[in-house]
Amino acid sequence: MSYLEKKSVAIGVGGGIAVYKVCELARQLMKRGANVRVVMTRNAQEFVAPLTFQALTGNPVLTDLFDPQQDATFGHLVTGKLADLFIVAPATANLIARIRAGMADDVVTTSLLAATCPILIAPAMNTAMWENPITQGNLQALLADARYRVVGPAAGALAEKTEGMGRLSEPPDIVEAAEACLAPQDLKGWKVLVTAGPTREHLDPVRYLSNPSSGRMGFAIARAAAQRGAQVTLVSGPSELRAPAGVHLVKITSAQEMADATLSRLPGSQLFVAAAAVADQRPEKRAGQKVKKQEGPETQVLVRTPDILASAAAAVAGDGPHRPLLVGFAAETERVVEQAREKLRRKQVDLIAANDVTRIDAGFAVDTNRLTLVDCTGRTQELPCQSKSDAADALLVRAGQLRRELGLIG
Ligand code: C5P
Repeated sequence: MSYLEKKSVAIGVGGGIAVYKVCELARQLMKRGANVRVVMTRNAQEFVAPLTFQALTGNPVLTDLFDPQQDATFGHLVTGKLADLFIVAPATANLIARIRAGMADDVVTTSLLAATCPILIAPAMNTAMWENPITQGNLQALLADARYRVVGPAAGALAEKTEGMGRLSEPPDIVEAAEACLAPQDLKGWKVLVTAGPTREHLDPVRYLSNPSSGRMGFAIARAAAQRGAQVTLVSGPSELRAPAGVHLVKITSAQEMADATLSRLPGSQLFVAAAAVADQRPEKRAGQKVKKQEGPETQVLVRTPDILASAAAAVAGDGPHRPLLVGFAAETERVVEQAREKLRRKQVDLIAANDVTRIDAGFAVDTNRLTLVDCTGRTQELPCQSKSDAADALLVRAGQLRRELGLIG
């Protein structure tokens, strides 16, 4: 379930070329169950007609402070009061300045001033305007109030055919930030380390041993933890997935690189989740050049890669109650719970999330998962088949409980 489900989201639309992306943003918010109401500045209406937003959201659009009909049915005070979240997109330099000054000179600023909900600002402007200390000062002044958050801007091609900082964040990133504004902040103060994706063990520059892991489960855990307030580092093997907003992504290729990147970041963490499908073997030698075909039988000597999860457990064993909670995954094809218990003991970890990868609705490269949580207190919890993001949330809830049950602190 999305944190946007059944929520009322107001979008204050400023006057910038990026307005066209806000149409898609409104659609994506609604797809996640939000009721969306749009409020537009006069300049915004130069780029997209209010009718477009009305058709997309199924709600009337607020454009005029002094239109008696608009004010009677869904005036600026109502919009601000009813909203669970107010998104300002695109937040132009001018709009940010007016919000900061507490002005109420049009429908957007007036609605915002009357709102008591969290306000998410998605800036979009040219690079010089963004970098101008006046704009930065205005934004920082707003962010000093915990009710205001910012997403973006992103770097890239700008309307005036230059490259730089100032693009409106992409709609999925704004949606993710919106979810974070509405999520419970129960992991605030936590440092969470997650591994994800496959590793590649090269035998020469163009060939490698790997597996079909997409990274989806680990990315979902990192995203869910970040939305719930944790400071998250995600160490991932090659994956097509977008880095979740607010997550520090460390890209690696091999198991050894994953081990190095992970173990050096473990100290001070409250939770380590090993969701990566690490290759268990690597070729003993990596050829510097592409290996040519040969006559007769060819052999490759394979050697074991480091077990990152077991090494993490060994590294924190002496830290007492200040150690992180350690969570592993087990992809099995048979005797799932039994093997998970065995893995829990062998790797000396606190929780194993096991799944049967022979099922079509669980495991590699699908959007759903069916996890069985087996923990060191002897408890086994079977979760239903659900989206990987819901499975991630359920796993984090159990991790929080288990930390308390085990008396882990810090
Ligand atoms: O031993 P097995 O691969 O079945 O264990 C799976 C769990 O151990 C997963 O959490 C995986 O991320 C982790 N693992 C690891 N390093 C390895 C192999 C597995 O961290 N070399």
